[in-house]
Amino acid sequence: VKDLTTARLHLRANQKNDADALARLWSDPEVTRFAGGPRNYEHVRALVEGGAASAGEYRWTVVDRQTGEVFGECGLIHKVVESRPETELIYYLFPNAWGRGIATEAAGAALAFAEKELGLVRLIALVDPSHEASRRVAIKLGFRSQGVIRRGNAARELFLRESV
Ligand SMILES: CC(C)(COP(=O)(O)OP(=O)(O)OC[C@H]1O[C@@H](n2cnc3c(N)ncnc32)[C@H](O)[C@@H]1OP(=O)(O)O)[C@@H](O)C(=O)NCCC(=O)NCCS
Repeated sequence: VKDLTTARLHLRANQKNDADALARLWSDPEVTRFAGGPRNYEHVRALVEGGAASAGEYRWTVVDRQTGEVFGECGLIHKVVESRPETELIYYLFPNAWGRGIATEAAGAALAFAEKELGLVRLIALVDPSHEASRRVAIKLGFRSQGVIRRGNAARELFLRESV
């Protein structure tokens, strides 16, 4: 997985060294409030340490270029949605990083990589319909709402970005 750089951020392919930070991210109740709730810290830590990336998936640790502080994670993952295989753009930040345009900047770089370097012409985002901040990020990145679908027990707004 290639590293990416933006004005403020470094997106580095997840490393074993990032296991603690990413496990803290995914076990944080505030971070996961609109995304299925906290995952088990040890489980996530072991996954990252094991380098368990699936083929064709990309996960980057989002880091402050200046200080090296870990802001969160973004990535491109595979999901079957409404019986169709899709690539989902995901973005998750620690609360202290919210409200500064970081998600849009990080996810924008992942999106550009997906389109320009992987040649993907169709990306989705799945967002809790009441999660306004995440909906805003998707919309700012050029995704359009396709309406609300059911995913297991949860309602999710399906956002789609198609480029030709
Ligand atoms: C969603 C999340 C990624 C947004 O990160 P961020 O860096 O704050 O996002 P940005 O600053 O790039 O953009 C957020 C936008 O939402 C807006 N916003 C934030 N909170 C809002 C709220 N409660 N209601 C309405 N709009 C809100 C901001 O004003 C901004 O829009 P603007 O640029 O038009 O002003 C971040 O809150 C997060 O990591 N949450 C936990 C993980 C998560 O839920 N990820 C998404 C799963 S689908």
